[in-house]
Amino acid sequence: MLSISRALFLTAFTARSTLAYNFLYEGVQLEDGDVANNSDIAFGKLPGSPSAKCKTFPGDSHWPSSERWDAFNASLGGALVRGIPPAAACYEGPYEDAARCEVVRTGSRSSNFVKEDPVIPFQQWTLGNPCPVPASNQSPGPEGACNISSYPAFAVVASTVKHVQLAVNFARNNNIRLTIKNTGHDFVGRNTGGGALQVYVHPLKAFEFLPSVQIAQYQGRAARVGAALEQYDLVRYQGENNVTILTPGSTTVGALGGYMQGGGFGYLTSKFGLMVDQVLSLEVVTADGRFVHADPGENEDLFWAIRGGGPSNFGIVTSAVIKAHDPVSVTVSSFNLRSNSQLPADLFWEGVNAYFSHLVRINDAKGIGWNNIGTQPPVGSAPRSFTFTGQVTMPGMSADEMSEFMAPIIKDINNLGINISNPKPDWWPTFAAYAGRVAPGEGVGNGRMGSRLFPRSNFVDTSSTEFNATMAAIRSWVEDGGYSFHSVDYHPSLETAGYPGTNSAANPHLRTAIMHATGFDTGSYGPGTTPEQQISQQRRLMQFAQKWRDASPTSGAYMNEANTEEPNFQEAFYGGNYEKLLEIKRKRDPWGAFYAVTGVGSDEWVVEGTSGLPTQQGRLCRV
Ligand SMILES: Cc1cc2nc3c(=O)[nH]c(=O)nc-3n(C[C@H](O)[C@H](O)[C@H](O)COP(=O)(O)OP(=O)(O)OC[C@H]3O[C@@H](n4cnc5c(N)ncnc54)[C@H](O)[C@@H]3O)c2cc1C
Ligand SMILES: *[C@@H]1O[C@H](CO)[C@@H](O)[C@H](O)[C@H]1NC(C)=O
Ligand SMILES: *[C@@H]1O[C@H](CO)[C@@H](O)[C@H](O)[C@H]1NC(C)=O
Ligand SMILES: *[C@@H]1O[C@H](CO)[C@@H](O)[C@H](O)[C@H]1NC(C)=O
Ligand SMILES: *[C@@H]1O[C@H](CO)[C@@H](O)[C@H](O)[C@H]1NC(C)=O
Ligand SMILES: *[C@@H]1O[C@H](CO)[C@@H](O)[C@H](O)[C@H]1NC(C)=O
Ligand SMILES: *[C@@H]1O[C@H](CO)[C@@H](O)[C@H](O)[C@H]1NC(C)=O
Repeated sequence: MLSISRALFLTAFTARSTLAYNFLYEGVQLEDGDVANNSDIAFGKLPGSPSAKCKTFPGDSHWPSSERWDAFNASLGGALVRGIPPAAACYEGPYEDAARCEVVRTGSRSSNFVKEDPVIPFQQWTLGNPCPVPASNQSPGPEGACNISSYPAFAVVASTVKHVQLAVNFARNNNIRLTIKNTGHDFVGRNTGGGALQVYVHPLKAFEFLPSVQIAQYQGRAARVGAALEQYDLVRYQGENNVTILTPGSTTVGALGGYMQGGGFGYLTSKFGLMVDQVLSLEVVTADGRFVHADPGENEDLFWAIRGGGPSNFGIVTSAVIKAHDPVSVTVSSFNLRSNSQLPADLFWEGVNAYFSHLVRINDAKGIGWNNIGTQPPVGSAPRSFTFTGQVTMPGMSADEMSEFMAPIIKDINNLGINISNPKPDWWPTFAAYAGRVAPGEGVGNGRMGSRLFPRSNFVDTSSTEFNATMAAIRSWVEDGGYSFHSVDYHPSLETAGYPGTNSAANPHLRTAIMHATGFDTGSYGPGTTPEQQISQQRRLMQFAQKWRDASPTSGAYMNEANTEEPNFQEAFYGGNYEKLLEIKRKRDPWGAFYAVTGVGSDEWVVEGTSGLPTQQGRLCRV
């Protein structure tokens, strides 16, 4: 085994290129000698055969004894924790703790708290809301009302590759469900599962700027990045190193976990592509427990699949090397429309259409659009009202150039008789300065959404039936559905993707899209709602999402911000890549060690005991 001290020695005294990995935590590996005759932590042998019909659940006769869990914990050096949700402190029983409960009450609303916990996901509806945080005026809930069995049974707090390998081997050898949590942001429940062994990769943070690298045909600036770096980490590092690195839009989203592995867009995506397009090489623990390097010339299948083929399904990424671009300035123009007696609904929507008719021009200039459309139901004799908040973000333009760029948009809106003025753009000298103005932390949601990638072709001719149908479907979502609308309008074409991004598993529908539309259900998926209520809300939501699909019949949806029950998810989330991804999945993971809802091959599995909901708390079985 390569110990930390040996890795340190190598770092200090030999060229970095002689190391087969990026960071010291990757030098601590599980070696054949560590396994000896311990069948709990033995490596898998390919080709393997599929495991039993169902995963072993706590309480089953095959569930490892506490002695074996203790031995596993010892092999981990004590990095194993039990799967106790923090809100258990607010319930009677062994975990009751009033002071801790207070911390949980305020904390649970912020990503800064939830991402630091090894057990809980953001979207607790994906586990059936098993341990709700009681309101502040409530006394401790009765023991049992916090259902700990619905959470992962144990979590490995992984700070070395060895931890990750041990977890993969222990779970695979014992046929236990394996889940991976990074920040916990996932919307669809790919990051959690009842009775699972969870690998919490959040400690895998490290960064090193590389002024010059040669990886296959890429020559230029790059950075080594730990798998757990969040947006705000990368924003800080790119500022310190005077480069630009693509990042998620929100501060605490992980940049290399689900975000990258599902595609990953940011404010500079029309200029630099998706997050998958930034990746030059990967370090990965595969389903057999081995630690491998993947790049355009080595383990090419894995390198291709992990870049866009969906997270938590082909391996556990521990680090990557990604592109670093030249620093770029950023300018932003924001404007609003609000319906009222002077701006009735029809005119409001004409104004919205006028803005959207400029999406091609915005994207061709390498900018992105971003907007929210809100609505309030009729009050008394006042009709349903609408608000539109629009923002155009443009790299590399001065504020004056941005004003000029915006002028035709504002003019088209003014020509309709809507009186808004050309907003004064904000300008930042670098993307790091722009993104770094916000302190880390965002809200923690618990609900479901609809989404659609509308293709660029729908926006090219704004007098076409395609453009019309797109606008009508969006209007109906808000006006008839009563749901809010949000879109980020970017175009990560294959040309923008560059090398090696063009050859990745990223959803081909992302390449042709210009609008990623999302809308949240206004109904609750929280603890107060029954499965029946949730099912009927979802059915209604999907009726309106179907209008989006009908207006873009050849397109798909972005898997990271999507509905868990997107019809024909294989085509919508993976397009023409699905079959090839399935072949790689079968070859690399014949055991089904990895599973993620909506993942490649996930249709071969079902979670039991979920009352008809696409939730993850029950036993995972083959269909
Ligand atoms: C507030 C908010 C803002 C967002 N903004 C954006 C945005 O601007 N652009 C965008 O594209 N998306 C955005 N998203 C969506 C985001 O891409 C997904 O939520 C994504 O799954 C988050 O990945 P994570 O690793 O941070 O979260 P997690 O929930 O921890 O993980 C997500 C998935 O990745 C898997 N995973 C995590 N780490 C690893 C790893 N090291 N190896 C293998 N699998 C791993 C998990 O098992 C899970 O399946 C946003 C989401 C939220 C909630
Ligand atoms: C196998 O493991 C057992 C228990 O840990 C140990 O006593 C025994 O010596 C080991 N045998 C070999 C061949 O390593
Ligand atoms: C694992 O070991 C550590 C250190 O000995 C201990 O603190 C921890 O509680 C153990 N975990 C479990 C699940 O028993
Ligand atoms: C940052 O890099 C740019 C170009 O790559 C250069 O013009 C500028 O001087 C650098 N700034 C600093 C502070 O080094
Ligand atoms: C538009 O609004 C501004 C400020 O409210 C006002 O000064 C201006 O006269 C208005 N213009 C038109 C054409 O209504
Ligand atoms: C687009 O819609 C408008 C009104 O909604 C209609 O008048 C027009 O004929 C439509 N155009 C096309 C090409 O469908
Ligand atoms: C608790 O969760 C487990 C796993 O999903 C489930 O089997 C069990 O029925 C739940 N118990 C209660 C009381 O809801």
